[in-house]
Amino acid sequence: MALTNEFLGSSLVERSLFPSSSPCFQHKNGRFLIKPVLVPFGNRRVLKLKKSAKFPVAALSEDLVKNSSSSSLSSSSSSLPSEKPVKFKVRAVVTVRNKIKEDFKETITKHLDALTDRIGRNIVLELFSTEIDPKTNAPKKTNEAVLKDWAKKTNIKAERVNYIAEFTVDSNFGEPGAITVINNHQKEFFLENITIEGFATGAVYFPCNSWVQARKDLPGKRIFFSNKPYLPDDTPAGLQVLREKDLKNLRGDGKGARKLSDRIYDYDTYNDLGNPDKGIDLCRPNLGGSEKYPYPRRCRTGREPSDTDISAESRVEKPLPMYVPRDERFEELKQNTFSVKRLKGVLHNLLPGLKSSLSADNQDFNDFSDVDGLYSVGLLIKLGLQDDVLKKFPLPKIVGKIKESTSQGVLKYDIPKIISKDKFAWLRDDEFGRQAIAGVNPVTIEKLEVFPPVSKLDPEIYGPLESALKEEHILHQLNGMTVQQAIDENKLFIIDYHDIYLPFLERINALDGRKSYATRTIYYLTPLGTLKPVAIELSLPPSGPNTRSKRVVTPALDATTNWMWMLAKAHVCSNDAGVHQLANHWLRTHACTEPFILSAHRQLSSMHPIFKLLDPHMRYTLEINALARQSLINADGVIESCFTPGRYAMEISSAAYKNFWRFDKDSLPQDLLRRGMAVPDQTKPHGIRLIMNDYPYAEDGLLIWSAIENWVRTYVNYYYPNPSLIINDRELQTWYSEAVNVGHADLKDESWWPKLNDSDSLVSVLTILIWNASAQHAALNFGQYPYGGYVPNRPPLMRRLIPEESDPEYGSFTADPQKYFLNALPSLLQATKYMAVVDTLSTHSIDEEYIGERQHPSTWSGDPEIVEKFFEFSAEIGKIEKVIESRNRDKTLRNRCGAGVLPYELLAPSSEPGVTCRGVPNSVST
Ligand SMILES: [Fe+2]
Repeated sequence: MALTNEFLGSSLVERSLFPSSSPCFQHKNGRFLIKPVLVPFGNRRVLKLKKSAKFPVAALSEDLVKNSSSSSLSSSSSSLPSEKPVKFKVRAVVTVRNKIKEDFKETITKHLDALTDRIGRNIVLELFSTEIDPKTNAPKKTNEAVLKDWAKKTNIKAERVNYIAEFTVDSNFGEPGAITVINNHQKEFFLENITIEGFATGAVYFPCNSWVQARKDLPGKRIFFSNKPYLPDDTPAGLQVLREKDLKNLRGDGKGARKLSDRIYDYDTYNDLGNPDKGIDLCRPNLGGSEKYPYPRRCRTGREPSDTDISAESRVEKPLPMYVPRDERFEELKQNTFSVKRLKGVLHNLLPGLKSSLSADNQDFNDFSDVDGLYSVGLLIKLGLQDDVLKKFPLPKIVGKIKESTSQGVLKYDIPKIISKDKFAWLRDDEFGRQAIAGVNPVTIEKLEVFPPVSKLDPEIYGPLESALKEEHILHQLNGMTVQQAIDENKLFIIDYHDIYLPFLERINALDGRKSYATRTIYYLTPLGTLKPVAIELSLPPSGPNTRSKRVVTPALDATTNWMWMLAKAHVCSNDAGVHQLANHWLRTHACTEPFILSAHRQLSSMHPIFKLLDPHMRYTLEINALARQSLINADGVIESCFTPGRYAMEISSAAYKNFWRFDKDSLPQDLLRRGMAVPDQTKPHGIRLIMNDYPYAEDGLLIWSAIENWVRTYVNYYYPNPSLIINDRELQTWYSEAVNVGHADLKDESWWPKLNDSDSLVSVLTILIWNASAQHAALNFGQYPYGGYVPNRPPLMRRLIPEESDPEYGSFTADPQKYFLNALPSLLQATKYMAVVDTLSTHSIDEEYIGERQHPSTWSGDPEIVEKFFEFSAEIGKIEKVIESRNRDKTLRNRCGAGVLPYELLAPSSEPGVTCRGVPNSVST
């Protein structure tokens, strides 16, 4: 340590802000290593930055310091006369993250790189000042320096290895602001961060978190900036050119097919969902770029057009990966822990096994015990040679091969939460009502404004649209109120799927094994605060003058009407599952976010404060969306095969974008106002008052919404003390304008897009984006298996209509209603496929990053005041969790507490790994 002191003039550990006992700072084998731990709520204050200390030491290697022959001086531009600069040495500590697993080819290349590194094909760094050299009018920079000891450290097995490079700098060099890196090896490497030591002003931290490609794959130098945020106009002179250059590299030229090693972010339409080369059955309309099928843009891959349709991009079929910019891919880092990796396992290995094991698509559940058997006995499936990989996945459980020779395994599903506490709750109307406000899709219920409800569809096209609902259907269920009284007193609610489904019904019902109504469900709010479904209207397209196209089903009076009521509720759930998946979950949180992410990478420099704010909320979204295009929302993908709309599923999603989606209404308070679930009330926080006392999603959501909004407002006010800074921030304005005009080009002319011209509008836009990526997505995503894993509770697909007395199948219905009911649900193959996928989508990874957390919490920003404010936000999220816990214990809140009632935890911020039905990750990554 003595040498260390001599080198830097003070104790490195003293100067580090991390106590040596801290779990994130470890002294191991002579090396100090930073673990990028996520700090639990309770411990976060320990790691707070001290305001007096600006730059923490990120990683030091004692060995390397000792090996250094330098006896350099510490200095700064201010401490020595500028006319006679003195040379001195500083060093870069470069943290490289190793792959946990590498294949044979990678190992060979690694060793080859180690050999050639010794003879000069190495990693070369240059350090840039924030200042311009007045003589050359170019940024001041150092000599080129190489990473030392690469060859020597090739065999180190640690997750992270630190390397040293030494620079010679003039005493008037100024503050370091950027580093360029050239990789002369054959193989890419993951650069986590760089710390520059030796300046009297303190260590300077460069967060990198990026793959640096070999120069042969990606010519040119990579540019990394220090963690000090700058608005464009404040960019120090020495960094301006580098800032522009880095963004230009990320934008690319919009041409050619993307290589997997590229890091270019660009736009394209959804023209790769179909596979026309495989026949007409797999042709699908291109979504986006037309008035008929508007859609957000997705990440461009630039693949060749298909052979048979020039407007459709050719497909990349599993298991080949779909292009996303290199830093958006992650599976190499922690294999078998990421949800997407697991999802790939399910899609690529498990589903083919299921299909070949369950020979006929129409194999049905004949008895409820068949459904129960999926959790207790399991399902015998054929396994391929490669399917050992499935055993490594915690969920669903592959309990192993029965006999090696048979290549068979038993797939056993975990018991979904909905039947874990009360096996029969799903049968009850109060639970059906509860799930409308505390289930997996609590965002469609509206206050009923008029009765009977009115369609907005065009009668010229869709025929007579009058509702079949009459007062007599519900009057006797309203505790003595008239219908109008109940409406006036906010006692009636509706989930209305009439207009979204009716235009598609004729085509859906012509599909083999798909049957659907356009449903409307009316709910009465009881004095206990629970919702009671009082009538379900089932509409079909009118097929002739004498055909009854609408019917109303009301709660049961006898055995027959009980089964009718159950079937009607199942059809509502099927409608609900489709809208949930295609509009609320996929479209609103996954697809609509993607253009903002693409634009952020293209237009906001990594040193832009707004990029730093959004960064954790963009993690892995492009990757999961690409995987969805490959296997979930594509022609004949999981969504088409498991949801009632089949091949028309994505057209429904496009129609929802066209007719329903509004960016400004994705604000939680605005969404609640739009649905009439709240009224304006300036005396309340958020400026609104809920009209229903116990609406768990809204109650908990508003707490998180406000915490995000407060954090964002603090952040925005810090960097933009006046609106002119927002208006004149060219990167910010281009980011937003491109996200709207290019990323959402089909809706760019809508008048509702917020104008980004003051603090309020910027806070609102950013809060919506962060809310959608975190809490809104969590509320809609992580309950999918807990509620949908028991298919009778929430069938994603229906195969039979409800029989009427004149129908031929009425006899078989009355003879065996249980069988009729189960045969109307998805087939065994459809159900088990769906269960496997939603199980995986509902799973938290081991390395999940939850709201209020971020990687390297103390060093992500070089502005200590902002880091401090982030910890305050984090503490606020911790408090919200406690409030949610206490609400779930409150016996007066019957929609989240009671005998066998599931607590509402989908917006509880933290979670363990696995399927927990709780936890709010920062970003859309499952
Ligand atoms: Fe999701």
